Amino acid sequence: MNDRVAVECRALTYTFEHGRKKAGTRAVDGIDLTVRAGEVFGLLGPNGAGKTTTIRAITTLLPTARGMVAVFGHDCNTDRSAVRRLLGYVPQQLSADAGLTGRENVELFARVYDVARAERSERVAQALAAVDLTEAADRMVGTYSGGMVRRLELAQALVSAPRLLVLDEPTIGLDPIARAGVWDRVDAVRRATGMTVLVTTHYMDEADRHCDRVALMDRGRIRALGTPAELKARVTAEDPALAAPTLDDVFRHFSGRTLTDAKEGDFGDVRRTRRTASRVG
Ligand SMILES: Nc1ncnc2c1ncn2[C@@H]1O[C@H](COP(=O)(O)OP(=O)(O)OP(=O)(O)O)[C@@H](O)[C@H]1O
Ligand SMILES: [Mg+2]
Repeated sequence: MNDRVAVECRALTYTFEHGRKKAGTRAVDGIDLTVRAGEVFGLLGPNGAGKTTTIRAITTLLPTARGMVAVFGHDCNTDRSAVRRLLGYVPQQLSADAGLTGRENVELFARVYDVARAERSERVAQALAAVDLTEAADRMVGTYSGGMVRRLELAQALVSAPRLLVLDEPTIGLDPIARAGVWDRVDAVRRATGMTVLVTTHYMDEADRHCDRVALMDRGRIRALGTPAELKARVTAEDPALAAPTLDDVFRHFSGRTLTDAKEGDFGDVRRTRRTASRVG
């Protein structure tokens, strides 16, 4: 097992079937990806790019018939429980229960992740402290702000002490201060534990600031991959008129369209995103 590789995808392909008569949707179309241990890796792209589908394959929630996915050397199809023991996962959809307190939510996840009973309350308290929710821990989650809910979900994922933390749109629908609050906690835990972070977002500015490397994804394919600085330098080399490109410019250069055009997506994509944003907000 290679401990320096956290996630490996080879020719990963996933098609949603719509029945025998209609062609399926190829959400992920042959992607190759290596996430190195200890890095913060960003999977970026507009609505419908295939980010969540890729994440679901990596987190073992979607069995993949084509291509290979592995986490720390464990195959995500054939060695699912080994993969799950290494993971913390914050899904795009809301995963906290508004009718419980913050502490009760994290305790629930500690049980799901099989944290030993003797360690449980200490580990729950540590996870809540890591996301700055100690004081609010015994309040009902229904009274939390959107940013607090997202930080609570982070605590739910951290209570398993994961080697790989997977965050699907951790800051969608949050205001800039709440977004920074989520990232500060992720960065701090990463520095303290050396865990690997795989994050999806369509906020290019956040990815630029917080990711060591990024993959730009559009229509199921990876259009470019590297550090934000490398990708910007490649764009400037290929198009000298763009002397100081942003990651948005980089996306346009490699995908042939702007993120705003691409964001329009189809109605279903927009509706799903909005629903998530309003539930979190
Ligand atoms: N359960 C499903 N059934 C059918 N098609 C789906 C399903 N989930 C996703 N798709 C389709 O697969 C494609 C990729 O979707 P996916 O959710 O992976 O994109 P995404 O990059 O996460 O987008 P978003 O930014 O909106 O979260 C889209 O065309 C989407 O409509
Ligand atoms: Mg998604």
